Amino acid sequence: MIALEDQLFKTGSHNDKGMPGAENQRPEVAAQKETSGNRQKIEIKKVNKYYGKKQALTDISLTIHQGMFGLLGRNGAGKTTLMKTLAALHKKQSGTITVCGIPIEQAKEIRAITGYLPQDFSMYPSMTVSESLDYLGVLSGMDGRLRRERAEMLLKRVNLAEHRGKKVRALSGGMKRRLGIAQALLHDPKVLIVDEPTAGLDPEERIRFRNLLCEVAEERIVILSTHIVGDIEATCEDIAIMNDGHILWKGTVSGLLGDAEGKVFTININKKFLAQIKKDYIVTGMLVQNEFTTVRLISEEKPEMIGAQEAEPNVEDAYMYCLYRNGCDLGGGVEG
Ligand SMILES: Nc1ncnc2c1ncn2[C@@H]1O[C@H](COP(=O)(O)OP(=O)(O)OP(=O)(O)O)[C@@H](O)[C@H]1O
Ligand SMILES: [Mg+2]
Repeated sequence: MIALEDQLFKTGSHNDKGMPGAENQRPEVAAQKETSGNRQKIEIKKVNKYYGKKQALTDISLTIHQGMFGLLGRNGAGKTTLMKTLAALHKKQSGTITVCGIPIEQAKEIRAITGYLPQDFSMYPSMTVSESLDYLGVLSGMDGRLRRERAEMLLKRVNLAEHRGKKVRALSGGMKRRLGIAQALLHDPKVLIVDEPTAGLDPEERIRFRNLLCEVAEERIVILSTHIVGDIEATCEDIAIMNDGHILWKGTVSGLLGDAEGKVFTININKKFLAQIKKDYIVTGMLVQNEFTTVRLISEEKPEMIGAQEAEPNVEDAYMYCLYRNGCDLGGGVEG
């Protein structure tokens, strides 16, 4: 796969419209550019975005580097709005964004270096896998040979080569998403934005899909949004947590875990005390065994209960602690 990509670099432009991007560069040239300033990062400064009177993004400032970046947040947090804004599909009202050095206002240039897989993407169900990739290539103005080469390479990469003749309507949810990624990568973008791609996938497909994104992120900026904390834990080093249009937290996964150090406890209690515990604490897990339940909870101080033990925080605990510390309504804890 890499060899073919390398070859594609050497054959020159990936499209007949002279779109900017890595296509005109040999890999070693691209690597040199990586070290030069803004080329491989997204800079977001004080961005505000409204839908009518509703403020969906408030003073968002973030720097996103090459690799996997995770955007975590509840329903309505503003993840899709931010991603669409970064893909130049939505306009912000104030603030600045540059993608690999290009101001977001240059929408055509931004789209030429960005692949975007929307949360609710649709495909033509009666097209085959190959046809749907080819069709997109035609729309992007790629010539026939390049379309075939890129499609072939990407179908192998997303593990759909054996299904190229299958109709889209016959694909599983995971296969559809992998085809969506192939479509989003067809023009070899520098930035890949995927909005909640793992929702509704079975565990095996989710893991396979996450691994695919990680591979893609070796050479690109990949932004992944999710409310499945496990996706972030498994794949992302840098993350941001959004809530109600704000960035609540940004940094590394290990930094987030560090913040929750000393705030997570387990306790074995009789079932009859469970309701009270759930009222008093944020419960992140429960293991019921006969009349006893082992409860995992978040607390600023060690609970004054016999047998309470400090536990190593996991990312789910740390996420809940972050929401709690920022005053978010957690509705009496989360049952696990
Ligand atoms: N087209 C729109 N018009 C008006 N309000 C909108 C529009 N799109 C989103 N919103 C509102 O903006 C806020 C952020 O929505 P957004 O879809 O960005 O959140 P999200 O984090 O992607 O949520 P989810 O996890 O449910 O996908 C929400 O309050 C939502 O109701
Ligand atoms: Mg969304």
